[in-house]
Amino acid sequence: MKSPQTRGSVPRETIDEIQSRSDIVEVISESGIILRPAGRDYKGLCPFHDEKTPSFTVSPQKQMFYCFGCQTGGNVISFVQKYEGKNFMETLEWLAGRLNIDLPNQDVRGSVDRKRFTSLEDLNRFAVEYYHNQLLIDRASASAMQYLKHRGVQLKTLRSFQLGYAKSGHRELIKVATDKGFTIQQLIDVGLIKDEDRGPQDRFWNRVLFPISNERGVPVGFGGRSLSEEHQPKYLNSPATVLYDKSNILYNLDKARQSIYKKQHAFLVEGYMDVLMLFQAGIENVVASSGTSLSENHANLLKRFAPEVVIVYDGDASGFQAAQRGLHRLLAEGLRVRIALLPTGEDPDSFTRQHGAAAFTELTDKAINLIEFQIQAAIQRQDIHRIDVKTQVVKEIVETLLNLENRVERNEYIKYAARELHVEESVLWQELRDAGFKEAPISNQRRRTKANNQRLTPRAQIERQLIEALIQSPALISYVKSQFHYQDFTEPNFVRIAQLLWETCRDNENVDIQTLINECPDEKLSALISSAVLQKTPPPNLRARVEGCLKKLQHFLLRDLEQRVRSHALAEGADARETLEELVKLSKQRRAWHNRDTVDTRGENPNEGGS
Ligand code: UTP
Ligand code: MN
Repeated sequence: MKSPQTRGSVPRETIDEIQSRSDIVEVISESGIILRPAGRDYKGLCPFHDEKTPSFTVSPQKQMFYCFGCQTGGNVISFVQKYEGKNFMETLEWLAGRLNIDLPNQDVRGSVDRKRFTSLEDLNRFAVEYYHNQLLIDRASASAMQYLKHRGVQLKTLRSFQLGYAKSGHRELIKVATDKGFTIQQLIDVGLIKDEDRGPQDRFWNRVLFPISNERGVPVGFGGRSLSEEHQPKYLNSPATVLYDKSNILYNLDKARQSIYKKQHAFLVEGYMDVLMLFQAGIENVVASSGTSLSENHANLLKRFAPEVVIVYDGDASGFQAAQRGLHRLLAEGLRVRIALLPTGEDPDSFTRQHGAAAFTELTDKAINLIEFQIQAAIQRQDIHRIDVKTQVVKEIVETLLNLENRVERNEYIKYAARELHVEESVLWQELRDAGFKEAPISNQRRRTKANNQRLTPRAQIERQLIEALIQSPALISYVKSQFHYQDFTEPNFVRIAQLLWETCRDNENVDIQTLINECPDEKLSALISSAVLQKTPPPNLRARVEGCLKKLQHFLLRDLEQRVRSHALAEGADARETLEELVKLSKQRRAWHNRDTVDTRGENPNEGGS
């Protein structure tokens, strides 16, 4: 995560240097995104969402990027953070490394934290290697090897997944790791040993181990498969640690990410073995949720690499239910989702072993979309011909259709649903409208600006104009700051940006947009800033626009005030005369402001620049 602390540990000048020497067009192109010149900017297909016509815009002059399709944006640092999945510090290191810049010593606390992290990662790497060698070399692993062979795992697969074996002893790892210089505390911190009454014990014994890595390939934990029914649980996993947070980890994403990106979809399966067997069969775009329920983080992780996920959960009731839950989680984050249904009693592992990769591909090609799935699920649950059931299903489907972006898809789904449920299409359309759906024949371009202003009240739209104007002409910030408090914005994101702007121009220094983006507490804000900077045609007279916005917003503020006074009077039964006086005062003030504005715009040359 980006925290001000890690950010503060590199001096500003170094960040500036790294940033000014990293050309954003170069960095983005090096990541494999094809950019073509378009006027002063470059355009390409956005890596952060699925699109056919390029709306991903990169400006070499401004050193910023912005996607007009999915509203993602920022500077070169934000790009690497998002695209490579790195935090701020890691991104700086990465960019610095690329330029052969040495990062100076970070402050004590930062470096202690980092050292601690690095050594825990080292410990995990050591454990992976140790257990892997045990499996390959140690005689005691014969039963484990036999087990894997029996399950059809080939040697090359076993190597590429670095499978391991933990022997039956209870202090095997402790011995070798402490000999190597790691401490008991470190072993506890990564979850490899447990502190029991009888002293520290290895967590894993007599199990085949699946090392679990994060998306960058750093090992963060293990899943351990028992070799027999008697030895429970079937899978024992590392506990949550500073390195291992289940809601952030998809098994095999490090090896699968490239293939997911190329194929533009990911297969999501339940288990470690499912991943292994598919991978072995040449299907590499596969990750496992490993028995945890999908989180928003998982969805966002996947979204970085592809717009579509095909869920292939086990062909049993619990797999079906888990798939249904997962589907909604993924959809909510804007992924396209399909579900492949396996024959009852099969999982991807057993299915591929029995029927081969081609059969798996055939099955997943027929994966059904969410509406089909919802109908099938309902049919499985209960009698679809009952009126009440049908009504309920229609409701569920309408709910899903409401959240759908794509019109063609919506049409198709309605046709399908009507057919399957024996309901007239027109009835479904009516239900959809009753649920608040409005279809407007708007072009793509309009839809985008509409999306930008979505949910914005007229007042917030003016706020947006003001913020954008300030970002386009930072010299005006100090003037607006003197006229308007940042807390008087109504839209929370604008309050935060304004606060950032107001604070940054504290010392009458010129506000540097690049620095602003680096200091942005969240992606939404940096996207907003980039959108303002990369707007095609900034309005010609920003000073006048700013004045206009200020005037309108101040009117809103006064109205708020009047309203408060009125409702106060009503609520408290306060002195009517006092209230009246208050109101008269306010309306005078409003008029005064109005006059001042008129004088201002007449009396001043409305050119740009500070006041
Ligand atoms: P399954 O029970 O479907 O196991 O759990 P599996 O993958 O088919 O296992 P095999 O084929 O019998 O070896 C799916 C996943 O749920 C997690 C594991 O990640 C497993 O791969 N799980 C399952 C646990 O964490 N603990 C358990 O006891 C069982
Ligand atoms: Mn299985």
